Amino acid sequence: MLMANVKERLVVEQPKLLLRGDGLNKPQEDAVRVMISEMISSRFVDKREQLRGLGIYFKQTHNSGEYEMMQRMHNAAPKNVPQPLGIVVSHSVGGPVVYGYLLRYIEGDTVEYPLKEWISVLGKSVTDQIQEIFATFHAAGLAHCDPNRANALVRRSDERVFVIDPATSRLESWGLEYAMGYDRTVVGELIETLSKELRM
Ligand SMILES: Nc1ncnc2c1ncn2[C@@H]1O[C@H](COP(=O)(O)OP(=O)(O)O)[C@@H](O)[C@H]1O
Ligand SMILES: [Mg+2]
Repeated sequence: MLMANVKERLVVEQPKLLLRGDGLNKPQEDAVRVMISEMISSRFVDKREQLRGLGIYFKQTHNSGEYEMMQRMHNAAPKNVPQPLGIVVSHSVGGPVVYGYLLRYIEGDTVEYPLKEWISVLGKSVTDQIQEIFATFHAAGLAHCDPNRANALVRRSDERVFVIDPATSRLESWGLEYAMGYDRTVVGELIETLSKELRM
């Protein structure tokens, strides 16, 4: 039992919040735990700006499988999936509840319409990267299942594309083969649309 899992630390205040952190140091973890605890205990508290200041994005979801998929995607394409930093689980009466997970914050914009001016000058790089990232996922036996415009972030500093927000429930019901086919079709359509918008 001793040192069974040094990454798991339990906070005793209400709500009991367990952060299984992968990429946070101790002071960051403590600060984040307080902010997240406040956020999940009151819907009027919003700490997203402060978290952003620490370079952290808090994805709110009750889907526990999504974090695991983000880890797999990050392992397959570490340069193109934001680093997963921890899962947020509250151990309250009735058992554990997943509130979301933490990702390294990517300063940039998604490829939602209308495209940001700075993205449109990048041209082919963005579409090429999207294609390569999905090919990498598929080669690793992973399907994303929701390759929409809001799930591709372009980092401002180096124009690198990051993919987020896999639809794990779809993967479960569709199976891997169908899911990969879906990814390929939708990515194809996305590339076509983006290419037109970028007038390539
Ligand atoms: N790591 C991140 N860094 C910066 N912004 C992010 C990050 N992850 C998500 N976002 C922003 O939050 C939005 C919603 O996140 P997403 O995971 O796609 O959730 P949803 O299920 O609501 O679509 C994204 O479109 C993007 O603008
Ligand atoms: Mg999304």
